[in-house]
Amino acid sequence: MRAAGGFRTGSWRTTILLEWAFYKKSRDLCPNSSQSCPSCRKLERTLNEPPVVFHWFPLIGSTITYGMDPPRFFKENRAKYGDIFTFILLGKKTTVYVGPAGNEFILNGKLKDVNAEEIYTVLTTPVFGKDVVYDCPNSKLMEQKKFMKIALTTQAFQSYVPIIADEVTNYFKRSPDFKGKSGIVNIPKSMAQITIFTASHSLQGAEIRNKFDESLADLYHDLDMGFSPVNFMLHWAPLPWNKRRDHAQKTIAKIYMDTIQERRAAGTSDSQDIMWHLMNSTYKNGVQIPDHEVAHMMIALLMAGQHSSSSTSSWIMLRLASRPDIHEALYREQVEALGADLPPLTYEDLAKLPLNQAIIKETLRLHAPIHSILRAVKSPMPVPGTKFVVPTSHQLLAAAGVSASDPNYFPEPDLWEPTRWNKDSPLAPRLPATSDDEEKIDYGYGLVSKGANSPYLPFGAGRHRCIGEQFANVQLQTIVAMVVREFKLRNVDGSDKVIGTDYASLFSRPLEPANIYWERR
Ligand code: HEM
Repeated sequence: MRAAGGFRTGSWRTTILLEWAFYKKSRDLCPNSSQSCPSCRKLERTLNEPPVVFHWFPLIGSTITYGMDPPRFFKENRAKYGDIFTFILLGKKTTVYVGPAGNEFILNGKLKDVNAEEIYTVLTTPVFGKDVVYDCPNSKLMEQKKFMKIALTTQAFQSYVPIIADEVTNYFKRSPDFKGKSGIVNIPKSMAQITIFTASHSLQGAEIRNKFDESLADLYHDLDMGFSPVNFMLHWAPLPWNKRRDHAQKTIAKIYMDTIQERRAAGTSDSQDIMWHLMNSTYKNGVQIPDHEVAHMMIALLMAGQHSSSSTSSWIMLRLASRPDIHEALYREQVEALGADLPPLTYEDLAKLPLNQAIIKETLRLHAPIHSILRAVKSPMPVPGTKFVVPTSHQLLAAAGVSASDPNYFPEPDLWEPTRWNKDSPLAPRLPATSDDEEKIDYGYGLVSKGANSPYLPFGAGRHRCIGEQFANVQLQTIVAMVVREFKLRNVDGSDKVIGTDYASLFSRPLEPANIYWERR
C-alpha cells in the first residue's frame, strides 16, 4: 500500500527520475551522445513534455476520473503538477494548461499550431450536415460566423425580446407542469423546451417555430443523441442512435430547405431572423450561400445555443430557488425601473436591470456549460516562460472555468453572489484592467478583444469565440425577467442547497430530477 501510495503521489517526479536515469544510461552507452542519435533526441523531447498524470492503464488513462468531475480533476492535478500537465483521454495524450496564460496559449493559438475541426468534425458533421462549421476550411467557417454575427443587430434584438417574452408567457399558460397556483417541477425539462421555442422563433422565424409543435421537437431530440461523448469514437458505427441521428439530420435539413424555397417563392419577408439573412448572403468569392448550407447552419445555430443556454437558464432557476432573497430583489428591480404595472418588456428595458444582467454573469462563472475546449496540435508548441514543448502527438485542452473559480480573481469563489459584479462589492472580481482602446483583432467574423488572458471567458476567445453571446444574453435576460414576473421560487425543502452537476454529456448541466417549488404571484 505504502509503495503504491508513494508512487501515486510522486508519480511525475518518479517518471522524470526514471526517464533521467534511462537517458543518462543511454548517453553512457551511445557513442554519438545526444547530437545525432535519434534515441537520445527522443528522450530529450520527452523531458521537455509537461508532467503526466499518473494512471494504471495506457488506453483508459485518466478518462474515468476526468469524466466523472472535470473541474475537480483539473483542480486536484493543478495542485499536484502546476498549471500545465498531460493526462490520457481515451488513449490520447491531452495537455491541459489552466489559468489566464493557458487560455491565451490555447484559445489564441495560431492556425498553423492549433486546430479545432480535426477534433470536433466527427461529432458535428453528422449532426449539422456537410460544408459548414467544422466540415470546411477555417476561412469558410470565419465567413459563416460573420454572416451569423452581422444578422444579430440591435434592430434584430429589438424584435426578438417581445417574441421571447410571449413565448415564455404562453409556455406557462400551456404547460401541464405549471397548472394551478403552485407546484413542483423538474426545471431543466421546462427550460430546455422554453429555450428551443424562443430560439427557433426569434432566430429562424414563425414557420420553423410552429413545426416544433409537430415533428421538429422529436427530430431534434434524435439529432442530439449524436452529441454523446461516446461518439468521439463510435460516430461511424451502425448503432440505433446513429441511424436515428442520420435520419433526423436529413429530415430536418429538408424541412429548412423546403421553407427556404417557400420563402423565395413568396418573395417577401418582414422578419429579422437569421435564415432570411443567410438566404441573401454571398461568400467573398461571389458564390451565394447554397440552400443546403443555409439549412445546415440553421441546425448548427440551434444546436450550439440549445445546450449552453438551456443549461444556463436551468442553473439560474435552481440558484434563484436557493436564494429567494435575490429572486425578490429581481422583482423589486423591475418594479422600480419599469413601473409597478410591469409593462410589456422591451430590449431597451433590459439595460435598466443590472441585477438581472449580473444573474447571468454570475451563473456562467460557476456553471459555464462548456468545461473543456479541445484543439489538435499541428506543430510543436513551446510554452512561453517554461521548458515545456507540446508535441504534435498531443491535443490541448483549455478549461477557462478553472480561473473563474480561483480565489486569486474571485473572492469566496464558490459563493454564488450576483451582487459581486457591482464595482463596490467587497467580493468584486479582481480582473486585469481593460480599456476601450484594448487591442482588437478580426479573425474574419468581426472585431474581438485580442487578449484571451482573462480569468473569465465563458464564451471562449480567439477565432472560435462564441458569436451567440449577445443573443444568449438577450434570451436569458428576457426569460429570467418573465419568470420573475410570474412566479416566486424556492427549494422544495426550503433549504439553500443546489443540486450537483451532470458531466455525462459534453456540457455541464444539473443532475436530474432537479425539482423546485413554484408559486404564482
Ligand atoms: C462558440 C459558449 C450560446 C453559437 C462558443 C465557444 C464557447 C461558447 C465557450 C467556444 C468554443 C471553442 O472555442 O471551441 C457559449 C455559451 C452560451 C452560448 C456559454 C450561452 C450561455 C450560443 C448561442 C449560439 C452560439 C445562443 C447561437 C446563436 C456559437 C458558435 C460558435 C460558438 C457559432 C463558434 C464555434 C467555432 O468557431 O468553432 N460558444 N455559447 N452559442 N458558439 Fe456559443
